[in-house]
Amino acid sequence: MRFGVIGGGGKVGQLRVQTIHENVDTQLVAILDLSEDSARAVAGDAEVFTDLDQFLSVEMDAVIISTPPHFHEEACLKALAAGCHVLVEKPFSSSAESCRRMIDAGQKANRHVAVGFNMRYYPAFAYVKDAVTSGKIGQLTHVRAFGGHEGTVHFTHDWEYRVPMTGGGATWDIGIHVTDIVRHILGEVTSVYGVSSETVWNLEGSEDNAIAIFRNPEGIAATYQATWGDWRGYQFVIEAHGTHGMVRGSYAPMRNLLITMPEPGGKQTVTKVNYFGIEVREKLKSWKTTCTISFAEELCDFLKVCGGGTSVRSADANAGLRSIEIADAIKQSSLTNKAVELPILHPVRA
Ligand SMILES: NC(=O)c1ccc[n+]([C@@H]2O[C@H](COP(=O)([O-])OP(=O)(O)OC[C@H]3O[C@@H](n4cnc5c(N)ncnc54)[C@H](O)[C@@H]3O)[C@@H](O)[C@H]2O)c1
Repeated sequence: MRFGVIGGGGKVGQLRVQTIHENVDTQLVAILDLSEDSARAVAGDAEVFTDLDQFLSVEMDAVIISTPPHFHEEACLKALAAGCHVLVEKPFSSSAESCRRMIDAGQKANRHVAVGFNMRYYPAFAYVKDAVTSGKIGQLTHVRAFGGHEGTVHFTHDWEYRVPMTGGGATWDIGIHVTDIVRHILGEVTSVYGVSSETVWNLEGSEDNAIAIFRNPEGIAATYQATWGDWRGYQFVIEAHGTHGMVRGSYAPMRNLLITMPEPGGKQTVTKVNYFGIEVREKLKSWKTTCTISFAEELCDFLKVCGGGTSVRSADANAGLRSIEIADAIKQSSLTNKAVELPILHPVRA
């Protein structure tokens, strides 16, 4: 498949570009970036553009969008109109309405719109999902999820914590990955009660802490926290508990804990998984290596989906939309002190 990357000169876009160069089934034909030099540095034989319409005049089958979120919609709608399948970075956009417009356009154009929730591919979180799906912990009873870091000092660019570009704060940043993985485990989230605050960084509209309870249609609950006030640095933990055990995935460092029992309270089998290879590689190189591997796996699934495949780990456009609806619901619930109910979404092309 011939790919173009929008924002391909950026921190994440360059990693996306690398995965296209490295995949034998994909060819990079064009990059669009306001910074021509950073795009050229990774383009290889691909053409480089600073204008969206000129970029889309190149024949291509799919586009990856890796700009700041407020530009995702314009780029996505034009790429769909040009006949491309589209993979959009998280957060899907800077508002839920904007996500819905992209979903509608994808349906009308009969093209796939996928959302880049690459943390589904991090070995520790894939392990949690697979342990739940395979029934290892019995019937799912509850989920506990946390994602946090030390806030604005963590970011490379200041747009990353400014609402006009991002849509919101911690729940749109690290929290959006956490939301997605909780939803990936629960099946769907249809009820949200939350409390959020902006007391640490005082950035209007960018919540720096959010604590919430989600429920799926069966009433199974998840507790959730996303924060920009976790002074230990970057932490991401998902725990799923069931009638016959529990499973935890965490990063960084990448770790799993699985406890299983033949019956509730029975003799426990404890499995601990340490990913020393990943830890060493990240120490010697960078966290970007882990991220790039997940992008490569996500790209393979995107190719499968575009080819009609269904059995994939990747996130569809509904995952992108619902994660933002949940972020909005936490804020709304915090203002009203009432739970927000969310309808089941109509299935979409992945
Ligand atoms: N999946 C992940 O784990 C992950 C991690 C970090 C960021 N992200 C997401 O990736 C996207 C990019 O983040 P980043 O950290 O690489 O940002 P970045 O600022 O490093 O890169 C963005 C690039 O887009 C270009 N750009 C901006 N506006 C443009 C426009 N109108 N037209 C063309 N190019 C434009 C910029 O010149 C820049 O090179 C965001 O959506 C972000 O939320 C995802």
